[in-house]
Amino acid sequence: MHSALNVKMIKLIVANWKMNKTVEESCLLANELKNLLKNEKNVDIAVCPAFTSLHPVSKELKGSNIKLGAQNMHFENSGAYTGEVSPSMIKDLGCEFVIIGHSERRESFNEDDSLINKKLAAALRNGLKPILCIGENWEQRLNEETEDILEYQLLKCLSGIESIKDLVIAYEPIWAISKGNPNQKAATKADAEESHLFIRKVISGIYEEETAKNVRIIYGGSLKPENAKELLSMPNINGGLVGNASLNAKSFAEIVKAAK
Ligand code: 13P
Repeated sequence: MHSALNVKMIKLIVANWKMNKTVEESCLLANELKNLLKNEKNVDIAVCPAFTSLHPVSKELKGSNIKLGAQNMHFENSGAYTGEVSPSMIKDLGCEFVIIGHSERRESFNEDDSLINKKLAAALRNGLKPILCIGENWEQRLNEETEDILEYQLLKCLSGIESIKDLVIAYEPIWAISKGNPNQKAATKADAEESHLFIRKVISGIYEEETAKNVRIIYGGSLKPENAKELLSMPNINGGLVGNASLNAKSFAEIVKAAK
């Protein structure tokens, strides 16, 4: 089928620290990563700390090969939105990436595809690289609805978005996300590859085939040193979005090293 759609590209490994780490702990982890990964070439690396740690981590990582991302943002640049953080604010702190539509935000904060669509458009407008998270839950997988869900999410989230040059898509099957449990199983490399290929096929239907070939599709869900090599060697898996295993410098560094 569409196996010729993928091209070889530099992989992107992103740490999603979720709601973990104080400022001091974040800076310590960033410093350890900076040292462990300073010689890594041919791989793109980013960390996404909590909002409170973005500025100090940005300073800590200055001049390093590790980029910065935020875990969320509002779609307006300013205004009466108590408790929210805007695209221009995170850009100002040195963020290159922003995670949009993570399943934990969809589940716990009622984010739906139309809100995610607004956030994606705002991120792109502000020169940020959004990492759009999509994925099915266990029940949907059992009902063989995975492809329908992925296609629906992509169509809704990308509605009206003309250029996806700066977009990263993260396939995160919800059932594979560790929620802090290090024994949680990841998707198999065959299942993950099948979904990634399907996502690329959907993108080639919405945009040009060339766009589909070049869009980065990264995998998230219990990615760890033990399974990184096999998942990241699949032709349509262009990197990883790492939760639990990114909270430890050594294990995240091992995943980065497995990406080449
Ligand atoms: P885990 O790596 O802990 O499964 O988390 C994945 C994830 O949700 C990254 O955004």
